[in-house]
Amino acid sequence: MNRSGKFITFEGVEGVGKTTQLQRLSALLTERGFPVVLTREPGGTRFGQQLRHIILDPSTRFYSKYTEMMLFMADRLEHIETVIIPALQMGKIVLCDRFLDSTVAYQVGGRQLPSEFVDQLHQLIAIQPDLTILLDVEPEEGIRRAQGRAKLDRFEQETMAFHHRVRNKYLEIHAANLGRVHRVSTSNTSIDDVFSSIVDIVMNNL
Ligand code: TYD
Repeated sequence: MNRSGKFITFEGVEGVGKTTQLQRLSALLTERGFPVVLTREPGGTRFGQQLRHIILDPSTRFYSKYTEMMLFMADRLEHIETVIIPALQMGKIVLCDRFLDSTVAYQVGGRQLPSEFVDQLHQLIAIQPDLTILLDVEPEEGIRRAQGRAKLDRFEQETMAFHHRVRNKYLEIHAANLGRVHRVSTSNTSIDDVFSSIVDIVMNNL
């Protein structure tokens, strides 16, 4: 694939503050003249928004342990084909709130699905991020922040043990992909300081 753009993903546990930082980064890059597309998973397409609604609804129950993961994959495949690849081919910077590392952290780490199964499905994924920012915080602190915002969704209502498994899997992903994944701690740090760390990393990689 001819892709002159850059694909940058943001990852992290609940309440870590990805959305705020992504909006600021998108505004800053746009101001500096870079063409930016800000998108997210699940829900980066119209089809994905419908999936997102089902997946995050606290009253949703899945009876196969694989259904949830298949929905995230369906969301991702449509998103890649219709949003991410076209934007990269046009030379844009694609900023994506969650991508494939979320499936590893949440479905393999959190839900404890076999990693081989997820790895096989990932062979359907045609692209890898050029750069991933992992925003990190203790899960207790993240959930406290999320509780202050809105009604908790199906994931935010999970047990603390689940959130710790997700966080630990993210730390493993970081350790195994030091070239691509940059960890930025958000504990005891101001939103401004986190933002300036993110800007340094992104500008060094553009
Ligand atoms: P969202 O509101 O986007 O989460 P946040 O605001 O914390 O970024 O909700 C997406 C939820 O879906 C989030 O709890 C993580 C979960 N998720 C997975 O479990 N697997 C995935 O592959 C993706 C993309 C998200």
